[in-house]
Parts: sequence; C-alpha cells; structure tokens
Amino acid sequence: MLAVTETIALEGVRGRRVTIETDISRGLPYFTVIGLGDAAVKEAAERVRRALINSGFDYPKGRITVNLSPAYIHKRGSHYDLGIAAGIILAGRSDQSGRPEARRAFIGELALDGRVLGVRGVLAMVLAAAEEGFDEILLPEDNCAELSLLADSAGIRLIPVRDLRQVEAHLRGEEIEPYKLCGADGGDAAGGSTNSAPPDFADVRGQRAAKEAIAAAMAGGHSLLLLGPPGAGKTMLARRAPGLLPPLSAAEQLEVSAIYSAAGLLSEEKPFISERPFRQIDKTATRAQLLGGGSQPLPGEVSYAHKGVLFADELLEMDRSVLEALRLPLEEKSITITRGGRSSVFPADFLFIAAANPCRCGFLGDERHRCTCTAAELEKYRSRLSGPLADRIDMGLEILRIAYDELGGEKTQSSAELRQKVSRARAVQAERFSGVRQNASMTEEEIARFCRADRGGRQLLAGFYRSLGLSPRRYYKLLRLARTLADMDESEKLREEHLASAFQYTRILLKD
Ligand SMILES: Nc1ncnc2c1ncn2[C@@H]1O[C@H](COP(=O)(O)OP(=O)(O)OP(=O)(O)O)[C@@H](O)[C@H]1O
Ligand SMILES: [Mg+2]
Repeated sequence: MLAVTETIALEGVRGRRVTIETDISRGLPYFTVIGLGDAAVKEAAERVRRALINSGFDYPKGRITVNLSPAYIHKRGSHYDLGIAAGIILAGRSDQSGRPEARRAFIGELALDGRVLGVRGVLAMVLAAAEEGFDEILLPEDNCAELSLLADSAGIRLIPVRDLRQVEAHLRGEEIEPYKLCGADGGDAAGGSTNSAPPDFADVRGQRAAKEAIAAAMAGGHSLLLLGPPGAGKTMLARRAPGLLPPLSAAEQLEVSAIYSAAGLLSEEKPFISERPFRQIDKTATRAQLLGGGSQPLPGEVSYAHKGVLFADELLEMDRSVLEALRLPLEEKSITITRGGRSSVFPADFLFIAAANPCRCGFLGDERHRCTCTAAELEKYRSRLSGPLADRIDMGLEILRIAYDELGGEKTQSSAELRQKVSRARAVQAERFSGVRQNASMTEEEIARFCRADRGGRQLLAGFYRSLGLSPRRYYKLLRLARTLADMDESEKLREEHLASAFQYTRILLKD
C-alpha cells in the first residue's frame, strides 16, 4: 500500500516542494524515514506513531517506509510529521487508489497526543507552496496569524488544523473553514501591526549637521560612521534613522516577515513585521549572531535588519573576524550559510550605521575632558579605522556633545522635515534607475553618466584627488554621495557645494 503526500522543505527563506511516499507492507513491525532528513525528521517516526495511536487510529502492523524526495534536498525540522501521518492514514485506506486528490501540502509538528503544533518558517513555506501550484495547505492553527499579510489573491486555501482527528476527517471530505486572509492593508485592523510610534528626531537637540548627514545616508543608501565621545548622542541619532525611510511596501513586509518567520520570531501578538527594522550590535557580537547559522540555519542580525538599519555600536572595538564577516553582506546584500554541503540564503539588504569613540578613552577632541591616550594608543586605535571595513563605509561624521545652551534651545529638524528631503531624493533616484536601486550602488559607468559636475565642482574634485591621494574606490564613493546630496537639492549637476560636503563626510575616513 502506497500513499503520496507533499510538503515544503525550507532552505533559508526559500521553500521547495518535497514528496512524501509512504509504503506499508507485510513484515515485522518497522518504521523508517529515508531521504536526507536531520535528527528531527528521523524522530518523526516515533512522534507520528504515538500521535496516531493516541488519536485512536489503527496503527499499521507491518513495515512502514517513508521516503522523502528529491533525496538531494536536506530536510530539516519537525514540520514533516503531519505529511507523514497523513500518508499513513491514506495508505491504510482501501479506497484511496487512483482518487483525484486536491493538491495539498501538509505542514506541522505532532505532539504525542495528536495535537498539531506550530513550526518555524510557515510564511516562507506557504509562499513557496503558492508558487508550486498547491490548491490547499494544511497547517498548524497556531501559525495562521503570521500569514495575515498574504493577499487572498494567492489562490490557495489555508486550512488551519488543531489535531490529527480533524485532519483525518478533512481527508475524508469534511470541510474546514479556510483561514481568512486580509492582505497587508487589512492587517492593521486585525491588530497585527507593531505600531508604536518610532522615536522622532525632534527629541534630539542641536545636531543639525548630524541630522542632515543621516538623512543623506538614508536617501542614497550610504553607510555611515558616527565618531564621537560617550554620551554625545550617537545611539540616540542612529535609532531614529529608520523613521526617515519610506514605509515598507506590502512586498517588502512579506520579505522581512518571512525572515522572522523562519526564525520562529512571529507570534499572535506580533504576527508580521510592518516597520523598518532597527537592529543593534556591539563589541560582544559573534560571527554567528551576525551572519546566522546552525544545523537548521537561523538568520543573523544582518538578515533581521533586512530593509532597515543595522547599527554597529563600538565598531572599532569589535572582533576582527566579526568586522571581516560584515563585509560580505554589505556588498552582496544577502548571506549564504553553507552547512553540510547545502546552502541556505537569507536576504541581508540593510543600511549600515556604525558608531565609534574617537579614541580608546573616548575623549579625543573633547573640550572638557582630557584624552588620556598615549600617542601610540591613538595611532593603534585610528589604524583600525583605516582597515578594510572603513573602505566600505561611505560617510564619516564627527558627533560632538552639544553645547549647554543648545540643550534648552530651539528644536532642530524633526523626522517629518527630514523625511521630506529623503523622499524627494528617493523619487529622483527611482526615476533615474527606474526601480528600487540607490545612488550608493551606482556602477562606474553609471557614475560617468549621472555624476557630471559643474566647473567649480570639477576643479574641486581634481584638487582633492591630487592632494589627498584618494583611492579610486574612495573617489567613486565621494561621487555617489555627492549625487545624493545634489538629489536632495533637486540639482541635476553636482555643484561645488555638493562635492565640498561630500568631501567633508569623507575626511575622517581617510588615513592622514
Ligand atoms: N542632542 C541631544 N539632545 C537631547 N538629548 C541628548 C542629546 N545628546 C545626548 N542626549 C542625551 O544623552 C543620552 C546619551 O546619548 P547616547 O546614548 O545616544 O550617546 P552615545 O553617543 O551613544 O554614547 P556612548 O558612546 O556612551 O554609547 C541620551 O539618552 C540623551 O538623553
Ligand atoms: Mg551609544
């Protein structure tokens, strides 16, 4: 007796169809699962057996062989249980041969009493199942909330199930009300969104220049280093940066939510991600935390920050290997985790803001505190800045503690004001690249095409290049940044002032 059911395997946030063949034959009792399953999949045999018996079903006496195919895909996790149990139920039926079944995918872990338990990564699995052309997905009731972002147009019935008895009844033809999807717009009404008003730049006193710089970084996608003494407000500024980005589109919300779903971080209270993420790491971060990993690969901070901001505090005190690890996702905008020959890909397209003290004691350049670093210490500290990572940072900015009278003084730019500038510059870029790309990722050909400077600008550039010994990479970064500054002014040409400001943002990143 043979039954075929289907499910989805997850590799990172990509799902693939997996066929579960269940064969029951005469012989000594025996239950085996083959087809490159991990430990959790191998243990499915025992869970499924107990769940079937405890739900009151006949458990076949003979040999049960379950084959998961294609064999070359690694099967990880506990969500194979439901498809295997359904296979055994179907194989035991006398009338199942040749009956045209709806194309169903089964997703869910089983408890020993037959309950269907929630699993990680359901959102990505359902997206894959829709693409694979399934008509119906049986999935744990507990996971339904995280699907509320999906639009009804996916044309797939999501059948929430509580326990095996319900599943069996459904396989006999009993109806279960499909989960009602409301799409991204309705999501808020369902109480799904995570809206707590993000902090506003209006809370930050003074710091006009810093606010402008952060707006430019958010507008053009440039990575930014804030260099300043303790308490100067670096963290306060960075935390407010995501609020300058346009709201996540429906597609982006899905993309980001799929990452959190794969990590099992979505819940009834927070069923999906609707806000731009802000993720913070500091010198205690490990490579694994940053990039992700593990036998059933979990995303890392670079992926949790997808479409939002990754803030690296104490950048210069981070472990060398962690700094090195950051380079790849910064360039590729995704991260590939390879484990046992199979790789999982997680998106990692984030805006990078780093903070650092200007020296080891933190007070270099501070009017009130004396810097206690020796010349050798200063040299050593600064040399970390000129390392390979600094080469990947587009803008650097010194943040000084604001003066006393600024603390009680007039308010400076609010998030709403800055957001206007950002969206203006983003609109110009959208037209330029006819899409979602940003100035920071312009190729050299595009730079030649789009970064024409006026006469004063050209002279300035030539002067910089000669007198400062800019590396060609730094030179191109400077032009990309100047392009963004000009876009914020709605100027087609790069004017002298744009290049001069771009240079100001580059100064502290250069070796003297
Ligand atoms: N410009 C400012 N306007 C209002 N409050 C400020 C300003 N700058 C600093 N503060 C206050 O100082 C506190 C410390 O700022 P923050 O933690 O951002 O400093 P930091 O530069 O990140 O310091 P550290 O190097 O110690 O991490 C803030 O929580 C805030 O209350
Ligand atoms: Mg801080």
